[in-house]
Amino acid sequence: MKNRKKLLKNKNILLGVTGGVAAYKAVDLIRRLKDEEASVTVIMTDASKNFITSLSLEIASGNRVYSDLFDNPMSHINLPRNADLMVVAPATANMIGKFAGGIADDLLSTCLLSFNGKVVIAPSMNWRMYENPIVQENLERLKSIGIVQVGPEKGTLACGEEGVGRMAEVSEIMETIKSSLSSKDLSKKKIIVTAGPTREYLDPVRFISNRSSGKMGYAVARACIRRGADVILISGHSYLRTPGNLKSFISVETSQEMRDAVFKNLRGTDIVIMAAAPADFSPETKRKTKIDKMDKLNIHFKNTPDILLEIGRLRNRPLLVGFAAETGNRLDRARTKLLQKKTDIIVFNDVTSPGSGFDVDTNRITIIEKNKETPFPLMTKDEAAEAIMDAVVNSLQG
Ligand code: CTP
Repeated sequence: MKNRKKLLKNKNILLGVTGGVAAYKAVDLIRRLKDEEASVTVIMTDASKNFITSLSLEIASGNRVYSDLFDNPMSHINLPRNADLMVVAPATANMIGKFAGGIADDLLSTCLLSFNGKVVIAPSMNWRMYENPIVQENLERLKSIGIVQVGPEKGTLACGEEGVGRMAEVSEIMETIKSSLSSKDLSKKKIIVTAGPTREYLDPVRFISNRSSGKMGYAVARACIRRGADVILISGHSYLRTPGNLKSFISVETSQEMRDAVFKNLRGTDIVIMAAAPADFSPETKRKTKIDKMDKLNIHFKNTPDILLEIGRLRNRPLLVGFAAETGNRLDRARTKLLQKKTDIIVFNDVTSPGSGFDVDTNRITIIEKNKETPFPLMTKDEAAEAIMDAVVNSLQG
């Protein structure tokens, strides 16, 4: 059994917390980083202590919290030296201005200047401050030297006003951190990922569908983006947040629409990952008006197009990954799908096994290739997505 791959395992993250109302979210960010087995060391500015205590951050990180430039005169060199990545969340207009202007008058701003690795900043401020040309110019300047900005988002701000200035969601900051530390082994690759269920309508208000949430497909799309690919996500109905940095997002309802969207975008595509659960049947006729409950209802179904099978038959097809969601440990059925649908990889999972299946954040997969089968332990769908993309990269190289 192959081990799970935690992207941030053993990474040293130096987290700067500055004086914004979003400072309390640093605790959640630290928790999420530690879930990924990263080690977090926090540097607080004096202003941030008005919003959160150093004790909270010390307890969350399990490490000493730094703040004073002269406590240990070498910490502005030693802390960055041991870090794999610096993140400033929240980043106030003041800290952004100091960084862009090369000012080093406290521990965090000094560390930012002495660090030569990747830096992620998550701005957080009132929308008027964010729109100020000086702040925008400073952000441009930082961007031009490779500093990665995440957010801010539009929303209700602490002052009660609506506008762009709210710190990015912790999940977005996590995604940006992971992406910054990820290898770019899929750069220049064009990838189509399908996700979620489709809906086959009986009448304008009723449809048949399935329990797919889209979580596995969206996790695969995020993994491909992190690794530098151009990703087109074709998704059935899903409540999930659309991943950032997609090349395009295409929302579809029926299996036929999904098929058409895939084929419309197939030219020049290197890899297709069919993580969707398209409905296999659709009513032969869709009524134009709502079916009356007094009607005697007999529904006849026809098969929908089998997208995977259709791509598998193409002469010059992209690298093809299919999924086999089975009820029970039916690896034999998954192996048959690999051959019948002529895919390069089939990802098997038993949707009845605990922790696998619908609308959960974990999965237990086996990656089936022509001459190889690799079972994995129960892991998060993000980890499963990384494992799948490792297999894809190996297959491209082999
Ligand atoms: N799939 C597809 N088009 C469909 C149905 C499924 O491309 N109309 C793809 C899925 O995205 C998945 C794979 O086929 O990658 C397997 O889907 P699954 O429902 O497990 O298998 P089926 O092809 O429906 O076969 P069976 O009903 O025999 O299990």
